Amino acid sequence: MKEQLENLQSEALREIEAVTDSKVLQEIRVKYLGKKGSLTAILRGMGSLSPEERPVIGELANKVRERLEEALSERSEAIAAIEEERQLQAERLDIFLPGRKPKIGHAHPLQMVMEEIESIFLGMGFSIAEGPEVETDYYNFEALNLPKNHPARDMQDSLYITNEILLRTHTSPVQIRTMEKLYPNPIRIIAPGRVYRRDALDATHSPMFHQIEGLVVDEGITFADLKGVLTVFAKKLFGEDRQVRFRPSFFPFTEPSAEVDVSCACGGKGCRICKGSGWLEILGSGSVNPVVLKMANYDPERVSGFAFGMGVERIAILKYQINDIRVFFENDQRFLNQF
Ligand code: PHE
Repeated sequence: MKEQLENLQSEALREIEAVTDSKVLQEIRVKYLGKKGSLTAILRGMGSLSPEERPVIGELANKVRERLEEALSERSEAIAAIEEERQLQAERLDIFLPGRKPKIGHAHPLQMVMEEIESIFLGMGFSIAEGPEVETDYYNFEALNLPKNHPARDMQDSLYITNEILLRTHTSPVQIRTMEKLYPNPIRIIAPGRVYRRDALDATHSPMFHQIEGLVVDEGITFADLKGVLTVFAKKLFGEDRQVRFRPSFFPFTEPSAEVDVSCACGGKGCRICKGSGWLEILGSGSVNPVVLKMANYDPERVSGFAFGMGVERIAILKYQINDIRVFFENDQRFLNQF
């Protein structure tokens, strides 16, 4: 039995030394020291020993157990170190690998043009006003001297929500809202925002587009102020070398009204962009119709004003010589990255 124990010890020690995995080590512990393990099996046979042999073998068995416990715990520590090293290797990071650069976007070209237009007017003392995109018939049409059944309403076919509520067809309702809010103070605002019309999307139409409205109301404002402000604006936006011209036009909310053209980059020779005319139409404008002033409580005997409205897509198309309005809304990076 002594020999059996010694063999068991040396066999177990050899196995313990060879393990590099904590799970396998646990299996070895069970195999030798567990309830059904080989040491336990040997000790069960002690009943057949003589009374003299029993304490000797008993003591030896305890020593073997102690020796194995010690070897197991030493090995277990060594394995923990090995396993930690193995994990560190597996999770190794190369901190010198170049990182992936995040893609940094930039403002949409329409946004850039809007901000450029805004900053020109801010520089002339205007402030920025806003109004809702879902508007009432009153602000969008009636208060702008476009009563129900007025033929000029046909120029701006609308998207109606109810008979009285629609998506605004232009930014001009902000004129009325601003006059109501600021009455009786003088006004010098621009109002940028989205507008909607019942148009199918094609190269030159979009059911949603952007406008920037302008409104000035004060004592002594004349058509000369309109011409001065819009000439400065057009030259700042398109270049000091450009010419500006004012063509008579009609809007129910301005009287007289003028359409403003800026000379084409071709220098008047006539090209594809100006369709041979040498001029590009950039906005509608006029002196505020006294009827409109009166409807918003201002006294047309005391104050006068001018207003203008421009399409931002149109300005961007002319400025960057783009030939299709749809590119603004397609989110194609090949287009957007050019700005
Ligand atoms: N609201 C007009 C349009 O959308 C433009 C305009 C604004 C004209 C202000 C004159 C004065 O066509």
